[in-house]
Amino acid sequence: MHAARIDGKGTAAQMRKELQTEVQALESEGVTPGLAVVLVGENAASQVYVRMKQKACREVGIYSKEHRLSESITQVELLDLVDALNADPDIHGILVQLPLPGGLDEQEVLCRIDPDKDVDGFHPINVGRLSVGAPGYAPCTPAGIMELLRRTGVEIEGKKAVVLGRSNIVGKPTAMLLLGEHATVEICHSRTRDVAAACRTADILVAAVGRPEMVRGDWIKPGAVVIDVGINRTDAGLIGDVAYEEAAAHASAITPVPGGVGPMTIAMLLSNTVHAAKRTAGLV
Ligand code: GUN
Repeated sequence: MHAARIDGKGTAAQMRKELQTEVQALESEGVTPGLAVVLVGENAASQVYVRMKQKACREVGIYSKEHRLSESITQVELLDLVDALNADPDIHGILVQLPLPGGLDEQEVLCRIDPDKDVDGFHPINVGRLSVGAPGYAPCTPAGIMELLRRTGVEIEGKKAVVLGRSNIVGKPTAMLLLGEHATVEICHSRTRDVAAACRTADILVAAVGRPEMVRGDWIKPGAVVIDVGINRTDAGLIGDVAYEEAAAHASAITPVPGGVGPMTIAMLLSNTVHAAKRTAGLV
């Protein structure tokens, strides 16, 4: 078997086109979706992500306002900014790029964001909504994975899903979303005894551990769908968590790195922001 390549880049472009149409319809109702992007410090990867997010906003017609803050900002100043954005009627979504520099309390900042403007889905209220299956914002990478599976026509109900990684941003929420679609879900992490054996049981395998090419070809159940969330910057360039060629020899479908999950993350951020604007306007 040689796996089909799941085209996240193309799917995300299609989503942006659809969102552009939605934004135009909102404009005719007098509403421009607005996203505030807060970037603290000089983390190089964060700067790249923030730039890509803003470019995507421009493309679909979302107003985006960047707040670039020095590493020396105090917790109180950062909370004051969040308060101001919560109160700003032109802002429907607030994104605080993580990680925050050491010394700042990330959880306190995330908790301060109005849950209805929390387009990243990191506020504990939205985490709770996700876990009970109530409407709310799901984190963008997990939501992007689900959208990619849906648009690729991957059946989830009754399938065995294995999620490698238990982060709050990817692993845990991805497991909740897969469970919500009636998969049988196993979460593996650094203390799991035999990760390879667990992976071999997976009809759907999601790798989000940040270890270049950790998942080998012989870990893949024949015909499995493999979703690689890893973005590892190495001397050889961007490398996923999955050894792509090896895995593709066993899988039925697999996402590449780059061009797989990454672009979908940004598309879901745009989608959540447009949804937040629609809610404010009483349109959903
Ligand atoms: N850092 C890594 N991924 C993300 C994300 O999806 N959102 C934010 N705000 N920060 C991140």
